[in-house]
Amino acid sequence: MDCFQITGGKRLRGTVPINGSKNAALPLMAAAILTEGETVLKGVPDLADTRHLAFLLEKLGLAVTREENGDFRLKVEDEMNCHAEYDLVRKMRASVCVMGPLLTKRGRAQVSLPGGCNIGDRPVGLHLQGLSGLGADVDLIGGDIHLKRKKLKGCEIFLGGPFGSTVLGTANVMMAACLADGTTVIESAACEPEVVDLANYLNACGARVSGQGTPRITIEGVDELHGCEYTVVPDRIEAGTFMIATAITNGDVKLTNCRLDHLLALVDRLRAIGVNIERTADGGVQVSTSRRLEPVTITTQPYPGFPTDLQAQTMALLCLADGNSLITEKIFPDRFQHVAELNRMGARLRKEGPTVIVEGVKQLIGAPVMASDLRASAALVLAGLIAKGRTTVSRVYHIDRGYERIEQRLATLGADIKRIPE
Ligand code: EPU
Repeated sequence: MDCFQITGGKRLRGTVPINGSKNAALPLMAAAILTEGETVLKGVPDLADTRHLAFLLEKLGLAVTREENGDFRLKVEDEMNCHAEYDLVRKMRASVCVMGPLLTKRGRAQVSLPGGCNIGDRPVGLHLQGLSGLGADVDLIGGDIHLKRKKLKGCEIFLGGPFGSTVLGTANVMMAACLADGTTVIESAACEPEVVDLANYLNACGARVSGQGTPRITIEGVDELHGCEYTVVPDRIEAGTFMIATAITNGDVKLTNCRLDHLLALVDRLRAIGVNIERTADGGVQVSTSRRLEPVTITTQPYPGFPTDLQAQTMALLCLADGNSLITEKIFPDRFQHVAELNRMGARLRKEGPTVIVEGVKQLIGAPVMASDLRASAALVLAGLIAKGRTTVSRVYHIDRGYERIEQRLATLGADIKRIPE
């Protein structure tokens, strides 16, 4: 196991290109199950999660190759195996997004029910509600979800759960509906850019999806989907993490391949904190800070609200604001692994239910820390970049799930960060 050793205090400067989105790439890769012919995905980040899904897809009969230039080639060769086993699903919850494609294309799917994870219970009831609305028989046997169908039939489906919508649930139902008979309307669909990217990809393969990016998505079923070449949307969470890294080190960094229009909630809060964010003439985004950080109130919400996947990193930044901030987590109310660890670094955070009161301090102090959640771990790295002295972040395999070579990219910007064996 590796850890990161960080000596804080270096201002980040330079240019960093943003990679393709992890959370867009995973459903796009799974959607290859639906297609005849070859799919070429460009910009898939090289992460533990994308490698893991590639392995699962191989087990499900796809030929998957990664070219030297990073392109992913996927082609269905054998449709016999429809079982995503526990050993694979428990390692990466997003494996559930093979459920919709297997069911609609192969007529059956057996997918291990993912357990809870470090950010909460993570149920899939809405995925199953949607798929059974399309006509699937659903059973739970021995911890596995068994889905069967004769022919799926389009219908109206409401996917608004207790928190408003589900990203992978919308993806699963949308993929299944592409090959169903007739028209499906998903109400309270997730509006996240990753869902829009999936719809655009499916359309490039011959599907008829409209309304993506709004809470009502309409899918007219077609008989067959073909492969295509498609470039994954830039990762808004990675971009946001680099913006916050710049702000926390009082740096001056240009992001390229960054969709600022996907980050307006973050940009709004960062500007209120006192961070300068400007588009550059060549399409990049320049981030810098020149004054004390102001405290703010943040509530995570489904897109276009403030993303839960940037809550931890923003909390690290607000630890150093000039006053008290409030952060409320509405998507995953238990997603606060970073709180106790940041407190070990001298932060003053107090959790009350789904809200954390952040009392700004003058300085964070380096310490050994660890977290078992991707974004919480990223927050600890950001805190380490500005903390006095040395911070050691353990269990960095969590960060490797979602950020490609983050330590090398931060080091290129001037950070003092090294990966060392634990
Ligand atoms: N929910 C239900 N029932 C369901 C499904 C979800 O109640 O059947 C609830 C969840 O418990 C949660 C809320 O609905 O409270 C939203 O969960 P959602 O289903 O949207 O999450 P997801 O699709 O499983 C994706 C991302 C997460 C990101 C969330 C929210 C991927 C692979 N994962 O998860 O990303 O936090 O949407 O935006 O796309 C990460 O990248 O670190 C990460 C956790």
